[in-house]
Amino acid sequence: MCGIVGYIGNKKASPILINGLLRLEYRGYDSAGIATMENDKIKLMKNKGRVNNLYKLDGIDSLVGTIGIAHTRWATHGKPSKENSHPHVDNSNSFAVVHNGIIENYHELKNFLVEKGYKFVSATDTEVIPNLIHYYFMQDKIDDNKKILRAVKNTCSDLKGSYAIEILSVYNKDKMIVVRKDSPLVIGKGNGENYISSDIPAILSYTKDFYLLDDNEIVELSRNDVKFYNQDLKEIQKAIKSIEWNALSAEKDGYEDFMLKEIYEQPRAIRETIGAKLDNGTIEIEDLDFSKDYLKDINKIYIVACGTAMHAGLASKYTFEKICKIPIEVDIASEFRYRDPLIDEKTLCIYISQSGETADTIAALKLAKTKGAKTLAISNVIGSSITREADYSIYTHAGPEIAVASTKAYTSQVVLLNILAMYFAEKLERVEKDIIKNLKSDILNLPSKIEETLKDTNQIYEFAKKVYKEKDMFFLGRGTDYAVSLEGSLKLKEISYIHSEAYASGELKHGPIALIENGVTVIATMTNKKLLEKSISNVQEVVTRGAKVLAVTSEDIKNDGISEIIKIPKTNPLISPILSVIPMQLFSYYISKEKGLDVDKPRNLAKSVTVE
Ligand code: F6R
Repeated sequence: MCGIVGYIGNKKASPILINGLLRLEYRGYDSAGIATMENDKIKLMKNKGRVNNLYKLDGIDSLVGTIGIAHTRWATHGKPSKENSHPHVDNSNSFAVVHNGIIENYHELKNFLVEKGYKFVSATDTEVIPNLIHYYFMQDKIDDNKKILRAVKNTCSDLKGSYAIEILSVYNKDKMIVVRKDSPLVIGKGNGENYISSDIPAILSYTKDFYLLDDNEIVELSRNDVKFYNQDLKEIQKAIKSIEWNALSAEKDGYEDFMLKEIYEQPRAIRETIGAKLDNGTIEIEDLDFSKDYLKDINKIYIVACGTAMHAGLASKYTFEKICKIPIEVDIASEFRYRDPLIDEKTLCIYISQSGETADTIAALKLAKTKGAKTLAISNVIGSSITREADYSIYTHAGPEIAVASTKAYTSQVVLLNILAMYFAEKLERVEKDIIKNLKSDILNLPSKIEETLKDTNQIYEFAKKVYKEKDMFFLGRGTDYAVSLEGSLKLKEISYIHSEAYASGELKHGPIALIENGVTVIATMTNKKLLEKSISNVQEVVTRGAKVLAVTSEDIKNDGISEIIKIPKTNPLISPILSVIPMQLFSYYISKEKGLDVDKPRNLAKSVTVE
């Protein structure tokens, strides 16, 4: 999805901006552009395609300005093209703007501006912004140092939708203005220079000190100063937050792709997510202080998220039900937010978001708050928007996840959700202490079991080579094996572009078995000893119809027509998805490589889905 970078300082801005854009490439985009202040004039350079295409443009080296804004665009309004790429300028070339988000009422605003004589050259919603700022600037007869701020404020009051905006203006050539609403933006504080970005990793090599903007804050940046204003242009103070991630953790580190690196980072991600939470007699989670009385009264827990994060919720539902004895409903954020869910003050709503910026998940959280429920966010990004909205926030410590396809975030989320369930269960005392004690020790053993699972991947690679040209595949499982199958199937679709479906094995006979014919590939996960016999019968049903089966199991099963058996270490079935997902991640990865696809940046997808 779109990315923003900005710089104001004493160095040449263009290399810093382009470097920042390159670091944002993982978000997915179709065009890129920059604008710098050159001899008191705005100089614009943009191009369709990769940042490399921008870099190749004649004249890019001659940009010497020390203030600039930059953008990678992921088309929403208007096709990917040079005209539609950002930055956009107003008719007089006095204001240049880059924008993330969607302006929902842009038709109305465009009509208004056209009536006033403004002309438009792009099909974007963004182009109304510089023109509207220009309009308000020209209307304002007071000539003081807040004139541009007022024009920005008035413009923002007209905008409906979501936005993170950077503004460069010839009327204030040593300053830059930024503003956000429902779209992420951070300011990196340097010495005599300041950086702006939609994502921390883009500017992490320059600073570790960040200001995290809240909705409707307007910021005026100069080389040595950062001034924050609220919607009424009253100056406000904000604290700096230091980010622990280092720039190296956002590099490939010798791996061919970020996805592969992140798959191999899972043991560390899990160790760091567990941290010291299980070190003492009872579980302690920083910043959580739920009382037994409150937990006893909970009538339902909703776990709400999108995509892989939602699958992490599905994989963890079993633990909450088993050890907390509370009804759990896992829901897709984009559905939850529009279906008037049954929530009251006795409902706990848990929101999972790796990025912490997913528009639907944030909206679903805001909805629960209006209905009086307590909200708890699980994110990988400290200070992300969702964590600032929620009543409580806890973190996975997976480090930056750059590949679009989520891997280490998923396993870290499942671990953290299981720890959260145990934290509740210890207070609720509804199950025997030993159940929790055993689960704790199983969780502590996970990192070394993941290492074991990652040791020999050749079998998976060989199977992937056999089937990579296929058009359809099926994933089967029961219980948590079904939950992880949904994630395996999503991974395959995302990065290999092979259509796949995940089914609860018991559902086969109710329809999908009609699709099983000679040569079809089926990935069957069987880690739960209690369900093994039934799962094996289901596998036999597809084997007899000619399917090629890749079985992922921790049990000793007979070959019986199965093409490949991937043995993973035994663990508690409640947390088995953390191990069984790994062969599936690798399977999708190898297929994608075999097909020669861009593993880290699959088509049409974005890392952080900040629009609806
Ligand atoms: C799939 C994937 C997506 C995300 C989803 C939610 O590999 O990465 O399905 O899980 O877009 O993103 P977050 O967790 O950032 O809210």
